[in-house]
Amino acid sequence: MLEAQEVSLTALRLFAVLVCVCCVEECVCFPNGSVAFSCGSLMPVHPPFTPSTSSPPFMVSTSSTTYRPGGVITVMLEVETSSSTEFQGFMLQARSRGGNAELWPVGKFTNIDPSLFTALHCQDQQNSTVSQATGTKKKKVEVTWEAPNNYGDIYFSATVVQDYKTFWVGLNSSLLRQDSSSAAGRVFSPSFLLFIILLSLPVYC
Ligand SMILES: *[C@@H]1O[C@H](CO)[C@@H](O)[C@H](O)[C@H]1NC(C)=O
Ligand SMILES: *[C@@H]1O[C@H](CO)[C@@H](O)[C@H](O)[C@H]1NC(C)=O
Ligand SMILES: *[C@@H]1O[C@H](CO)[C@@H](O)[C@H](O)[C@H]1NC(C)=O
Repeated sequence: MLEAQEVSLTALRLFAVLVCVCCVEECVCFPNGSVAFSCGSLMPVHPPFTPSTSSPPFMVSTSSTTYRPGGVITVMLEVETSSSTEFQGFMLQARSRGGNAELWPVGKFTNIDPSLFTALHCQDQQNSTVSQATGTKKKKVEVTWEAPNNYGDIYFSATVVQDYKTFWVGLNSSLLRQDSSSAAGRVFSPSFLLFIILLSLPVYC
């Protein structure tokens, strides 16, 4: 009986030590955004905790529902107006739905203020991903992003860290359609084809 009590006491002490280690780790993880995340999965390295499955009190929105290659879009990550939550950390990137690019960032963030954000170099693409510069609590972040050439439809995906134990992975924006009026496909528009046909008619007459 006494032994069992001693064992549970030891377990309790071990638990207390673990909790302390986690607290220290939290401080280590949050000063800058360079260390805490994985580029491909947007997964924070916060053992032993796993992503929350509850509905996230955050949203990712964009200034436009379409983009042109080389065009600039404003992206907002913010707490839902109905929630009093704040967040300490985040990671944000644009992703292409097309083919193998699904899991990887496309385009790059521009005019990154280093006092607020950390630009990350993911999959050989400079500034393709952005995260926090400090662990101060925030309700909203706003960044600008420059579109790549011809990636088709894209969406923004974010990880939001409320605190060390509570975080959400894979918060997606709505889909942004590539504005095809600027694509090379325009050269082969029906009226252009008709023009070619009209030009070649005299040859057959
Ligand atoms: C973030 O912290 C890591 C480790 O402490 C350091 O190597 C890295 O240079 C820091 N990055 C920035 C942008 O301060
Ligand atoms: C990435 O962002 C930094 C500022 O954080 C800037 O100095 C650098 O030129 C950018 N690189 C590219 C390729 O845009
Ligand atoms: C975000 O999109 C990715 C890729 O389509 C998907 O795997 C993930 O489940 C989505 N996240 C949510 C919360 O629906």
